This record gives sequence, C-alpha cells and structure tokens, in this order.
Amino acid sequence: MSQTNQNETPILEVQNLKKYFNVSAGTLHAVDDVSFKIYKGKTLGVVGESGCGKSTLGRTVLHLLESTSGKIFFEGKDITKVNRHELTQVRRDMQFIFQDPFSSLNPRKTVGEAIADPLMLLKGEKGSQLFEDVIRMMDTVGLARRLYNTYPHELDGGRRQRIGIARAISVNPKFIVCDEPVSALDVSIQAQVLNLMLDLQEANDLTYIFITHDMSVVKYISDDICVMYLGQVVEKCPSDELFANPLHPYTQALLSAIPLLDIDQEVKHEILQGELTSPINPKPGCRFASRCKYATAKCKEPQEFREVSDGHFVACCGVTGQ
Ligand SMILES: Nc1ncnc2c1ncn2[C@@H]1O[C@H](COP(=O)(O)OP(=O)(O)OP(=O)(O)O)[C@@H](O)[C@H]1O
Ligand SMILES: [Mg+2]
Repeated sequence: MSQTNQNETPILEVQNLKKYFNVSAGTLHAVDDVSFKIYKGKTLGVVGESGCGKSTLGRTVLHLLESTSGKIFFEGKDITKVNRHELTQVRRDMQFIFQDPFSSLNPRKTVGEAIADPLMLLKGEKGSQLFEDVIRMMDTVGLARRLYNTYPHELDGGRRQRIGIARAISVNPKFIVCDEPVSALDVSIQAQVLNLMLDLQEANDLTYIFITHDMSVVKYISDDICVMYLGQVVEKCPSDELFANPLHPYTQALLSAIPLLDIDQEVKHEILQGELTSPINPKPGCRFASRCKYATAKCKEPQEFREVSDGHFVACCGVTGQ
C-alpha cells in the first residue's frame, strides 16, 4: 500500500540527512542527503549493495550515530536536538534489531537476563514485575519458557534472533530499525522470523525501517522501498510499483539479479560492469554513471530526486515523466 497519504502526519520524517566519516583519504559520504517520510504502522524497506550506507542510515536515524547535518523528526520532534531526558524516551520509542544477534548478545547472559536488560534499564522494572514481563516477552516471540536459563551459544540462529526481537519490543517501542534481521538465518527459518515481525507489527501498530540486500525479502515485508546507491537514495516508491516498474538503471540491475522461479523463463542476470565510484570525496554527478549502460554527459551534473508519477521518485536524468 502506498504511503503517500498527504492528510496524515508521518511518524518519522528525515530531511536532507548526511553522515560523513573523516577517513585518511578524505571525507567518506556514507549517507548523503537522504530524505523520506514513514507513516505509522508501515514498513519502509531500504535496499542496496554492501557498503551503500544502509546501516549507517539506520543508526543515524536512531541517533546512535550523530548526524553530520539534516533533520530527523520523530512524531514531529527533531530528535537531533533533544536533551538527555528526552533522549531516554526516544531510546524507548525507537529500537534496533541487528543482523547478527549473536554478536549483539552478551555470551555470559542467559536468555532471561538478556531480555530483562532493556526492561530494567529503560523501564526501571525489577522483582516479580520484571520476571513476569520477561516470561510474557518470551511467550510473545515464541521462545519456550524452558530456555529461560540457557545461553545464546546453546541456541540456533532463529531463537537467538527471537531474543533480539524480544529485547527490542520489550520496552513498547513505536518504531524499529531492523538491520538485515534474517540475513544470517537459514532460508526455512527466515520466513518464520519475518512472519513473527509482521504479526508483532500488526498487533502493536509498529513502524519499521527494514534494511536488507535481499530483494525477495524486501518485497515480502515492505510498503514502500528506498533503493540506495553509494549513500544516496536513487529511487523510492510503493513496493508493488518498484517491482512492476523499476525506473532507475541501478534498480533494474538489482531486480534482474533475482533468480526467476519460472523455469520456462530465461534467467537473465544483468552483470554490473564498470568501476565502482568511491564514496570518498565523490563528484557531484550520478554515482552510478560509471556502471550505467545508458550514461550520457548529463549524468555528470547533480541528479534531481523528482516525482515522476504518483509517489514514484527517481534520481536519474534519463527517466522521463509518465
Ligand atoms: N565508523 C566508520 N568510519 C568510517 N567509515 C565507515 C564507518 N562506518 C561505515 N563506514 C563506511 O560507510 C559506508 C557505508 O557503510 P554501511 O555499513 O552503512 O553500509 P551497508 O549498506 O550497511 O553495508 P552492508 O550491506 O555490508 O551491511 C562504507 O563505505 C563503510 O566503509
Ligand atoms: Mg549494514
């Protein structure tokens, strides 16, 4: 479903967000002038190749990384400007689920202790209330109660990710950045965890940013999708529209890399050629131009991110309006 409901206030609005890192070779533009809106209860998928800035975007939106510039409005308030007290509330409202729960979980803490941590730290719970809530969380994410005293290394990837999900939802957040939450899991387990996340979203009216490099996963879970390339969003539109009518040559290349299930259809993998542009001190033009088969001289100029049809935005001078 499209998110372009103009009457509603977005739960999250990001305006011209930049996150640069100073590295020895210059300034690395990890997130470079990204803007989007997300409405309550929706999922914005963020896709793109490794290193395009997906995780940096997610962390900067949550204020875990300080932005270089730009605004992040959560429920109308710019969270780049909140004081310490307000930040505690933001930490409760906006949570994070990581790709690899194993590395984000303390190996010396049991399942029960790991789920108790955020409840103690962010909600000040203790005693029987804390114990009851931990058990309730375990039930909610489908972790058997007998696992309360087990350690992360004793569990499979799917159960470890259920701990990560329980920790995130335990403090009743409104918004969660999910950074490749199923990428490390077996395909058979992926669907179970994705369905759990969808059920939790529906039950709690949660809003997600869902980061992945897997186009099948993003199609399954997203309402809208942003396609990122070297720090910039090159295309954004409702999920169905992206798969039916991909406009940016980079999106087209990404989609052609999904193996087709229909064996009668010829599988055409478009292999991207040409040199990958560096995210360090990038030139003003299109960053994909060096790999684009349609590139012209106009691609050396800055590309406007414009709406070419209802809710469909693209940053490519070669795309004409519809
Ligand atoms: N702390 C840092 N210092 C310097 N550069 C960084 C830092 N964190 C990320 N980068 C760089 O920023 C760019 C974006 O990295 P990021 O991890 O956000 O990409 P990603 O899209 O999440 O990749 P992946 O799919 O591999 O997780 C990369 O060039 C990366 O090397
Ligand atoms: Mg990442």
